[in-house]
Amino acid sequence: MTQVLPHSRSPSPKTAKLQEPPAKKTKVEGIPLEEVDYANGLHLAPMVRSGALPTRLISLEYGAKLVWTPEVIDRAIIDSQRVYNTSTGVIDYIKPTENKPIWSTHPLERPHVIYQIGSSSPQLAVQAAQTVAGDVAGIDLNCGCPKHFSVHAGMGAALLTNTDNLVAILNALCEALPHKSISCKIRLLGTQQDTIELVERICSTPIKAITIHCRTKSMRPSEPAQHDRLAEVREAIEKMRPDVAVICNGDGNTHKDAQEIMSRTGVNAVMIARGAEGNPSCFNRGGPVKLGAYWLQLAHALDHLFPASKFCTGQLTPFAKYGDIKKKDRSNLNQALSQAKTHEQMAEAYKITLTQDKGLDQPMFDSLRLAIQARQH
Ligand SMILES: Cc1cc2nc3c(=O)[nH]c(=O)nc-3n(C[C@H](O)[C@H](O)[C@H](O)COP(=O)(O)O)c2cc1C
Repeated sequence: MTQVLPHSRSPSPKTAKLQEPPAKKTKVEGIPLEEVDYANGLHLAPMVRSGALPTRLISLEYGAKLVWTPEVIDRAIIDSQRVYNTSTGVIDYIKPTENKPIWSTHPLERPHVIYQIGSSSPQLAVQAAQTVAGDVAGIDLNCGCPKHFSVHAGMGAALLTNTDNLVAILNALCEALPHKSISCKIRLLGTQQDTIELVERICSTPIKAITIHCRTKSMRPSEPAQHDRLAEVREAIEKMRPDVAVICNGDGNTHKDAQEIMSRTGVNAVMIARGAEGNPSCFNRGGPVKLGAYWLQLAHALDHLFPASKFCTGQLTPFAKYGDIKKKDRSNLNQALSQAKTHEQMAEAYKITLTQDKGLDQPMFDSLRLAIQARQH
């Protein structure tokens, strides 16, 4: 019998810890590298707020090979408590001072989830990575965020021009977690020469993969990604470190786009952000499907926080949210969804019933579990 925690998201660490399954050991002497295969696939990009647990699980169900977590700043996760919810199966990382989790995961995504850190400090990055290492497949360093709060603190895109620190953080992570695959996500620099010098410095560290967002720091998300610049950068990486996977990011919105980008740039993996924010089934070979109601059921089964659910479902495309329904039905549904204040009220709008059962063992999640468990890793 499992112990059922209250369904509101203020789990009691004391009760939950009684039956908490241990995280995988992270002390590493002699433990072989847990390899992550970054190549030959489409991946879900890191997205603050939008890359929530239900979105990551649906992405995996519909064919994403790996899923990145939203960036979590190093200090935010350090000293958090790992709390296992026996009712939902969710593992929350909670700070004693906060009433909501800093980051949540589910053991089902464990072999496929890459945890992204925002950091400007080798020591803090290592502490953050060690905090979650037992629950993730790999660790990624964000070297591309152009936002003021990030760059101002020497994180994100600031690392692109402070390569000594970038390299120091990657080396520290690889040294402290030799059993984990370490990667980073960068942007293009203004010139090819500078970009090639940057990736050569990165390749001097023992990392396993680089994601290249094919925009510069100053480019707007609406400007087309510069895929034509990627082949030369990829060649420079391959020449120095043929074992490092090169992942292309930018403007791949569907399975079809991603295939086309791969053949044009020569990379063998593509990472999708906004396409998956609008519809996490975009990885599906047969094209995206409607999934608004399913997202909701999953969120309810995982006790996902309602404001986060409302935000994420609000980001879905009209097709993902409703499918092809009549304009009038669509505007009624839209209105009801936007007025909803609970998962139950959203379910009423969709005319579905939410079960009181929690967790992913329910028949409605069979295809999710089977699709994810059937993967080779
Ligand atoms: C809502 C949102 C949140 C994002 N959060 C992150 C993040 O946490 N870390 C990161 O490296 N990039 C983040 N990005 C950037 C994306 O990962 C990606 O690089 C960018 O959107 C380009 O990919 P796309 O053209 O497929 O959207 C975010 C993008 C969006 C739209």
